[in-house]
Amino acid sequence: MTVEKSGLLYESLASEIAGMIASGAMKSGDKLPSIRKLSSQRDVSLSTVIQAFRVLEDRGLIEARPQAGFYVRRPAIHWREPAITQPAATPCEVEIDELRWQILYLSQRGEGAALGCAAIDPDLFPNQTLQRILSSTARRHARMIGSYAFPPGNAQLRRQIARRSFEWGGLLRPDDLVITNGCIEALYLCLQAVTRPGDVVAIESPAYFGLLQQLESFKLKALEIPTHPVTGISLDALEMAMRTSDVKAVVVVANFSNPLGSLMPEENKRKLVELLAERDIPLIEDDIYGDFHFSDQRPRPAKAFDTTGNVLYCSSFNKVLAPGFRVGWVAPGRYYATVQNLKMISSMSTPELLQLTLAQFVESGGYDHHLRKLRRSVEGQLHKYADTILRYFPSGARLTVPQGGYVLWIEFPRGFDSVALLRRSIVEDIPFAPGVLFSASQDAYGHCMRINCGLRWSAKVEAALQRLGDLAKEQLALQQIPH
Ligand SMILES: Cc1ncc(COP(=O)(O)O)c(C=O)c1O
Repeated sequence: MTVEKSGLLYESLASEIAGMIASGAMKSGDKLPSIRKLSSQRDVSLSTVIQAFRVLEDRGLIEARPQAGFYVRRPAIHWREPAITQPAATPCEVEIDELRWQILYLSQRGEGAALGCAAIDPDLFPNQTLQRILSSTARRHARMIGSYAFPPGNAQLRRQIARRSFEWGGLLRPDDLVITNGCIEALYLCLQAVTRPGDVVAIESPAYFGLLQQLESFKLKALEIPTHPVTGISLDALEMAMRTSDVKAVVVVANFSNPLGSLMPEENKRKLVELLAERDIPLIEDDIYGDFHFSDQRPRPAKAFDTTGNVLYCSSFNKVLAPGFRVGWVAPGRYYATVQNLKMISSMSTPELLQLTLAQFVESGGYDHHLRKLRRSVEGQLHKYADTILRYFPSGARLTVPQGGYVLWIEFPRGFDSVALLRRSIVEDIPFAPGVLFSASQDAYGHCMRINCGLRWSAKVEAALQRLGDLAKEQLALQQIPH
């Protein structure tokens, strides 16, 4: 109880100070009152003030200066955002050639700074707590090891996921959900449920590489829609594209897309849902980053506006909690029976001991506590990555700095060859994901790259980013591109 109470106190003190900074009442370079003074002014303990300052430091809002106290941080260097993307206006078959597979594996390599794969530092997850719950669950439910499990998945976990949907206005019921092997399987089942080979699927551009791989494997055509780095898929462009192409499904990551990090405004989500319901075109929503918001409020997914069951909602715990467990889910709306049957055919079930372990963790309140801590660390981390990139990268680079998730998208002047840069940086154990991975068209984003900011900030990461910046400058010079 006491822990709980002091937790609330330090968080509310931190958010009061954050509010003063956001309103401009406290400006960069202003000195904060000393810990002792604040503690007596507010009648709180020294450790409450220290914890509040720690939170603000993690969020990149204040900094400690040796023997001088705490100061509001100087503002981050201002970045220039990339413009809205302009992909090809016609549907195209997705062919992921051997070269792109090689690039994918290259980008995921590296014992050093893992800037390639969109993944969080394993030490930021509550591994020991989950291990303890897993052991006791296995002891108490040993028969689960010896039994088959069937779709739709563990009832206790479905209940917890449904309960949490209330937070974003989803009002899901346990019976609306099918548990899957990660979000990737959820997407796979949904695509399979609503399309046939040769169909056209409208997607954001750039798009998550795994989605492109699935479109290829189902022999679907990708219709890439212009996407804004801040507000996501362009609804005007989508509407126009649907007039000229026979679109059979739309896939979006409305909350913190990968790789752009864009967040669709609520109004756009509502319009998107209405637009597709009117035309009877299913919307597959991937909300894997929805819980990874930096603001106080979780952004609502498009599913929150679904009144007809036309939205197939996919997510998982893999980005925020336990990627090793591979537990995800889908709320497929009116496609429930088809998706459930496909799950039965494809992998039958997801290990139930793991499902139950997660259910118990969520039920205990551990998940919310973990999310708060994780988001705080990652937000601060992401800003440090962005500041460092802007300090060391060529001045012509443009950058998106999202309000959630943990990837940064960087755009260099057109013509820049990010694959050539990867081939050089990988020799020094500095992988990243080049832009060619995120489009069906080979050359749409060859001048871009995605950086993973999930790795904890360290001198090693800083050195890797600095070196990558130097190599990018050399690359521009080699290609004689002015910057
Ligand atoms: C947008 C997006 N969707 C789905 C996935 C795959 O999710 P999971 O690991 O839950 O299968 C990823 C992984 O990087 C992703 O970025």
